[in-house]
Amino acid sequence: MSLPLLALGLMSLTLQGPATEKFAKAAVASDHVLASEAGVEVLKAGGNAVDAAVATGFALAVTFPAAGNLGGGGFLVFRSATGESMTVDYRETAPALATRNMFLDGVGKLTDRSVLGHLASGIPGTPAGLWAAHKRWGKIRWKQCLAPAIRLARKGFQLNHELATEFAGLAEEGRKKGFLETYRVFGRSGNPYRAGDLFKQPELAETLQRIADFGPDGFYKGRTAELLVAEIKRGSGLISAEDLANYKPVFREPLTGKFLDYEVVTMPPPSSGGIILLQMLGMIEPEKLRSEGFGSSGAIHSMVEVMKRCFADRAVWMADPDFFPVPVEKLLDPAYLRQRRANISDRATPSADIQTGLPTSAEHEETTHFSIVDSEGNAVSNTYTLNGGYGSKVTVTGAGFLLNNEMDDFSAKPGTPNMFGLVQGEQNAIQPGKRPLSSMTPTLLVKEGKIALVVGSPGGPTIINTVFETIVNRTLFGLSAQSSVSAPRFHHQWLPDEISIEALGLSKDVATALQSRGHKLRTRTAQGSCHLIVVEPQTGLRAVGCDRRQSTAGLAGY
Ligand code: DON
Repeated sequence: MSLPLLALGLMSLTLQGPATEKFAKAAVASDHVLASEAGVEVLKAGGNAVDAAVATGFALAVTFPAAGNLGGGGFLVFRSATGESMTVDYRETAPALATRNMFLDGVGKLTDRSVLGHLASGIPGTPAGLWAAHKRWGKIRWKQCLAPAIRLARKGFQLNHELATEFAGLAEEGRKKGFLETYRVFGRSGNPYRAGDLFKQPELAETLQRIADFGPDGFYKGRTAELLVAEIKRGSGLISAEDLANYKPVFREPLTGKFLDYEVVTMPPPSSGGIILLQMLGMIEPEKLRSEGFGSSGAIHSMVEVMKRCFADRAVWMADPDFFPVPVEKLLDPAYLRQRRANISDRATPSADIQTGLPTSAEHEETTHFSIVDSEGNAVSNTYTLNGGYGSKVTVTGAGFLLNNEMDDFSAKPGTPNMFGLVQGEQNAIQPGKRPLSSMTPTLLVKEGKIALVVGSPGGPTIINTVFETIVNRTLFGLSAQSSVSAPRFHHQWLPDEISIEALGLSKDVATALQSRGHKLRTRTAQGSCHLIVVEPQTGLRAVGCDRRQSTAGLAGY
């Protein structure tokens, strides 16, 4: 059910909760309705999609701290109305003092320190990444883009039941583990927040103000950097003042490919998402899939077989391209994809029979994606994360923001599954300055030279399949924008050898048909939180907000 909320000025509309809405000119879809509104506020002040991405990105750090962040990192894919496309890689990097075996104990066993506490954090990339995007493409002043986030942090916003409940759990964990700033900020030092309470974050407002006043120097140097390094020392972590001063985002050419009548523009390594997405779109056979039909056991089988083969490649061939020569062209070569497809039969191929050389890795589930299209036709697809929900659970004392646990996306122990059950290889082992392999897949589709679709999702390795299925649902099966997002999702990541399917996602006879082909099925809770904008030449924009995980998700536009 969609719930119309207050309108943001004349003719603008805001919707919270599972919804589709049509907008004539511009739209922002994110995991928090106030963050979507922040983007629209900036668009209406004359900003473009990148200005709106800065506003939404910083606002999510205030209103959706499970994944919206200053202390994490991510990827932004941009396409201008004039056809320039480019990505910003602001993924975290490993500290200079990081070592290959830093997460193993004395007998070589994996500890939980890659997930929890001060050692789990890579150097945050978000403030530098949003700054770099703004410097290159932004239209209005940086300060203006941060104003909504600062206001939300300073004046507060009302918590709903879900956020208040999550904060109580986080605060309790902070208390138990000795992350006392987390206990203080999110648990009001033992006086837990309840639904309807105003959540004010004065320290975060100050940190945002320093970023507004001094750009990246307001985070990577000066007071914020001092507070961050002091916090890291308190918990015997590794991030130093030099690490912070040295952090650099990277502009990377997007990966592009053809699918049906569309040009797909997506994220290159250090994400595995773009490669795997293009491999899968290149391996499926559109006519066969169409004749099998949406939701049929045949179509699910065809798509799952492709997933397995691509995730097997991930385990061996994908990592930070600045440290490992990822053979992107070979992995995307149509001849290679045809050869990979050749042994797909009517039966499930056991993962053990799919050659990879090494097992792959897994990832955590709390990230956030937003999609933006402005009135000129510029578009941003942005996915960023702390990795796990609320990251390392460590809040920087006096600075009001949480730190990531992205170090767990490295192969902390090559061959051993990580928090997402991914088994990863040697190529993704920890090295100073390296970026851990990601699955985030912010993506744009272009048709006849114009932006046609903006999509992305959280969900660790499931991200890639959520984006794949949403694109196939819309472009190949011709589902409506809403149905493309709402359709039940399924996931296979090669190891473990099983299809996970959203509960209620399959009718019994389809499940039985898949099992009789040799597939192992497991039901799971919601997969991803996908925000989609479809641009239709005749009717304008159609934005679809998440109908799965985020009770706060919302659309704004005009
Ligand atoms: O970069 C990655 O692939 C992971 N750190 C993403 C984690 C994630 O999506 C958690 N979200 N739901």
